[in-house]
Amino acid sequence: MTNTIIPFSLKDAPALIERLLPVQKLSAEAYKEQMANQGKTLNALGSYWKGRKPLILAKACVLGCLLPVTDDPARDLEIFEMLMGMDIYSLEKRLEDKNDKESSFILGLHRTVGNRSSYRTWVAAASRPEECDNSLFDHIWDKVNTHLGTSAYSFSELVEQLGVMRYGHRPSVADTFSGSGQIPFEAARLGCEVEASDLNPIACMLTWGAINIIGGSQKSRIALVENQKELVRRVQADIDALGVEVDDIGWRAKAFLYCVEVRCPQSGWMVPLMPSFIISTSRKAIARLVPDYNRKRYGIQINSGVDDQIMIEAAKGTIQREGKYGEAFLVHKINGIEYKTKISTLRGDYQKHDGSAGNQLRLWDKQDFMPHPDDILQERLYCIQWMRPKPTGKSYNYEFRSVTVADEHREQLVEAFLAKHITEWQTNGWLPDMRIEIGGPPRYQGLDLIRARGWTHWHHLFNPRQLLLNGLVNKYATSAVLRLSVCQTANFNSKLSRWNSGPGVDAVIDTFYNQALNTIYNYGSRSSRNITNQIATDYKSFPLPVSSSVECRPAHQIFTPHDIFITDPPYGDAVKYEEILDFFIAWLRKNPPPEFADWVWDSRRALAIQGEGEDFRRGMVAAYKRMTECMPDNGIQVIMFTHQSGAIWADMSNIVWAAGLQVTAAWYVATETESALRAGSHVKGTVLLVCRKRQGSYKTTRDDLAWEIQEEVEAQVQVLTGLNQEAKGLYRDENVFEDADIQMAGYAAALRVLTRYATIDGRDMTAEALRPRVKGETTFVDGLIGFAVDTANQCLVPQGIAKQHWDKLSGAERFYLKLLNLEARGAKTLDNYQNFAKAFKVRDFKALLASHKANNARLKSAVEFGRAEMSEGSELYQSVLRAVLYAMMELAKNLDSNEVLAHLTLNIPNYYGDMTQRELAIDLADYLARELETLRPEEASAARIVRELIRNQRLG
Ligand SMILES: C[S@@+](CC[C@H](N)C(=O)[O-])C[C@H]1O[C@@H](n2cnc3c(N)ncnc32)[C@H](O)[C@@H]1O
Repeated sequence: MTNTIIPFSLKDAPALIERLLPVQKLSAEAYKEQMANQGKTLNALGSYWKGRKPLILAKACVLGCLLPVTDDPARDLEIFEMLMGMDIYSLEKRLEDKNDKESSFILGLHRTVGNRSSYRTWVAAASRPEECDNSLFDHIWDKVNTHLGTSAYSFSELVEQLGVMRYGHRPSVADTFSGSGQIPFEAARLGCEVEASDLNPIACMLTWGAINIIGGSQKSRIALVENQKELVRRVQADIDALGVEVDDIGWRAKAFLYCVEVRCPQSGWMVPLMPSFIISTSRKAIARLVPDYNRKRYGIQINSGVDDQIMIEAAKGTIQREGKYGEAFLVHKINGIEYKTKISTLRGDYQKHDGSAGNQLRLWDKQDFMPHPDDILQERLYCIQWMRPKPTGKSYNYEFRSVTVADEHREQLVEAFLAKHITEWQTNGWLPDMRIEIGGPPRYQGLDLIRARGWTHWHHLFNPRQLLLNGLVNKYATSAVLRLSVCQTANFNSKLSRWNSGPGVDAVIDTFYNQALNTIYNYGSRSSRNITNQIATDYKSFPLPVSSSVECRPAHQIFTPHDIFITDPPYGDAVKYEEILDFFIAWLRKNPPPEFADWVWDSRRALAIQGEGEDFRRGMVAAYKRMTECMPDNGIQVIMFTHQSGAIWADMSNIVWAAGLQVTAAWYVATETESALRAGSHVKGTVLLVCRKRQGSYKTTRDDLAWEIQEEVEAQVQVLTGLNQEAKGLYRDENVFEDADIQMAGYAAALRVLTRYATIDGRDMTAEALRPRVKGETTFVDGLIGFAVDTANQCLVPQGIAKQHWDKLSGAERFYLKLLNLEARGAKTLDNYQNFAKAFKVRDFKALLASHKANNARLKSAVEFGRAEMSEGSELYQSVLRAVLYAMMELAKNLDSNEVLAHLTLNIPNYYGDMTQRELAIDLADYLARELETLRPEEASAARIVRELIRNQRLG
C-alpha cells in the first residue's frame, strides 16, 4: 500500500484571503521590498517602470486565494505566515542570511535575553524572503502538509496540489493589466500556470522579460550573457572606428555635459543656461563663465579642486527660479550690470485666440537632430568627464575638462555622421521617427516637450551623440532578450537625463526619475563605455517551474478561462503609461523580434483605460465583466487599487458590482516607500478587493439589508479582534490587525452583503451601478454604500462612548473621538487619519489636525482649536463635541467657570430643550478626560471640570 494522500476537495471552500490576511506584517514586508529600489528582483529589466507592485504582495494574493480557511483560523494564519517566510523561525534565518552588524545585533539580543523588537524592526534588518535560498522553508513543509492534507515539499508542489483540490488541476492565474510583470512573475514563480497581458507593448516586453530572462533557464542565461558581450563589442567597435570618444593622449570619454544656450535680449550676449555651475561635489569641480567681449559670448572653463567659498557661489547658475510657481529666469552679469529675463519671454510665449499657449520657437522637422543656427534655443557641449585606467589596471582615474578644439572637432564628426545617415537609420528603424502625439487635454506629458523646446518627434529628445550611441545599440540588439537594453539605454541617455553632481555620484542618471517627461536646461550624455552596464546587465535569476504566456491586448478581449485573476488596473491620477511609454515605443516599434512580432507597437490610447470619469468606468466594467465570464463559478479575483479617496472606493465597488462580481473581502496594505512618506501627505497604500462571481439573482430590500450587514460586520470584526488577542505575546504587544484594518474589513463585510444582491428595492443593481453620474449627485448605489459603511462603523464605537450617543454624532465628531482614542494608544501615521476620514465621510479632516506629517500626524488640542471651527462652514459647526472642546479651551485660559458654562449652553443647540444633549456633553467630556490623561493632562483636567460643571448645573 502506498502512502499517497487522497486530496479532499476545496472546490467551494472559502479562501484564506477572504477571511484573514496579516496586513500589518505584509505592509512591513512590502515596504521593505519597495525600499530596495535597484535591488528589486525585476527592476534591472526596466528601472523606468513606475508603480511596480511588490512581489511579496502578489505572493500573498496567490497563496491567499489558494489556501482554505479552516475551523482553526489562528493555525491558518500561522501556516500562511510560514509560507510567506514571516514566522519567527524564518525571520531568524532571514537575519542570519543578512549577516551584518544590525541583523546580528537583533539576533544576538533575541537569543540571549529574549528581547523581541517589533516586526518592522526585524524585517528592516533581515534579508527579504526571496533573497534567501529555498532552505528558508525547510522547516515548514511537514507542518504545512499536516494542516492542509498535502504532501508538498516545494511551492510548485503545494500550489499544484491546492489547485487540484480546488479546481482539479494546477491553478491558472491571469493578470490582464500586467505592467512590468510583477504579479504574473510571482504567480509563475510559485508554480501557477500564468497568462499575462497588457495593452501596451512596453509593458508586455517587461513582463516577457520577467518570465523569460529573470525566470529563464540557466542555459538561456548563459546564452544571454554571450549575446550581451557581443552587443557591447559591436557598439564599441563602431564608435571606436569613428574616433569620437577618445582623445589624443589615450583618455576615454565617460560623460559629456551639455546645456541650452540663448541670446539674452537685453545684453545681446549668448548665455549658457545652467541652474548650477557645480560639476562635481566630490572633486570640487565647477564650470566658470569667462566673458569673450568680442564675440559677446562666454567661454566655459572647468576648474577642479576649488575652495569651499567658490563651491557655494557656483551653486547659483544662470537659471534662477522665483515666485510661488518657481518661474525660471535667465540671469547673468556683464560689466557689473545684471540682466534678468523670463525664460517665457525668451521663448516668446503668448496666448492664442482660443486661449491655448503658443510661442516663437520653431517646431523641429522629422530630419532635425540638432537646433538650426538661427533657432532661439541652441545647445552646447561645456564639459567632458574623461577616464583612463590607473597604472595598476584595477580602477580608473577621472578628470573633468573644458572643451577643446579637438573635442569640438569630434562633435562635428558625430553630427556629420548623423546628417549622412539619419534618414537611412530612421527607415531601418534604428532611430525613432515617431511623432509626439498631443491627442488630448494638456495633461499629456509630451506637451512640455513641444512647448518648451519645439520638439515634435521622439528622436528630438536625444542629441547627436545619444542618437549615434543608442542607434547602434538598437541596430545590433535584434534578439528579444536584448531589446530590453535598448530601453534602458534610452532611459539613461537622453536630453532629459540629468547630470548628478552629488557627493560620490558624478553620473548621468535616468530620464524617468519621476513619471513625467520634463525638459531640463543641462544634461549628461553617456559614452559607449558608460552605457555598458545598461546593456550587459547582471540580472537576477529565478528559473520558473512552469511556462507562461504574454499577450498584447486590451483586457476586455481576453478569451481564455482562468481560475484566478489578480489585477492592478490603471486608475485615476496614477501614472499615464499610455503617454510616457511612447518614449520607448518610438525606439522599438520597427523590426520587432519574432517573440514580439504579433504585438501592436503603438500605445493605442483610445483603448487605454484612463482618467476617472464615465469612460474609465465603462472601460473597467467591460474588462472585469469579460474576466468574470472567463472564470469558473468557484474562481476568485483580487483587484488592487491605490487607496486615495472615498470616491475611488465607491467607484471600484460599482465596477465590480456591474461586472457581475461580488466582494468577499477587502484589505489595506501600506505599500508606500519612505520617499513617498517624506513627500508628506500623499501616503498611499493598496486596497485588495477580493471578489467572486455573483451567483443567482437574489433580491432584497434596504430594510432587510440593515440586519444582514450588521451581523456580517460584527462577525468579521470579532474574528480579527480575536486573532489580535491570540497574537499578543508573539512580538512586543503587536496587533496583527489595527483599527484601520478592522474597519476596512468592516467595509468589506458590508460590501460583501450588498454585492450579493442583483436587485435591491426593486432596482436592477447592474444597471444602477452603470448609470452615468451627474456631478455632485448621490446615486442609489452611493447611498447604499454609505449606509453599509455607516453600519460597519457602528461596530467600531470607541470604548467609553455609549452606542446611543455615538449614533447621534456627526462624521467629524466621530472622527475626532476615534482618532483621539488611537493617538492615546500611540498611533501617528497620516494614513490612519485618511482611512477614518473616509470611513466617517469627513470632507476636510485636515482642518481638525495640528500636524499633517506622514509619520507624525496629530489632532488639534482644544487650545489649538481656539475659536476656530465654530462657524457654519465647519464640519464641527454646532456640534456638542466642539462646544465641549471650546469650554475646555476657555478653562485652560482661566476664564471664570460660570462664564464657561454659560457659553457652553449657548454653543450646544437646544441645550435646555433636549436633555440628551446635556447627557451627550457629559459623556463626551468624560471620554475626553480619559483619553487625554496621558496625552495632555491639563486638558484632561479641563475636560473633567466641564463634566462636573454640567453635572452640577442647577436647572430651572
Ligand atoms: C497600474 S499598471 C499595472 C502595474 C503592474 N501591476 C506592475 O506591478 O508593474 C496598469 C497597466 O494597465 C495597462 N492598461 C491600461 N489600459 C488597458 C487596457 N484597456 N487593457 C489592458 N491593459 C491596459 C497599462 O498599460 C498599465 O501597464
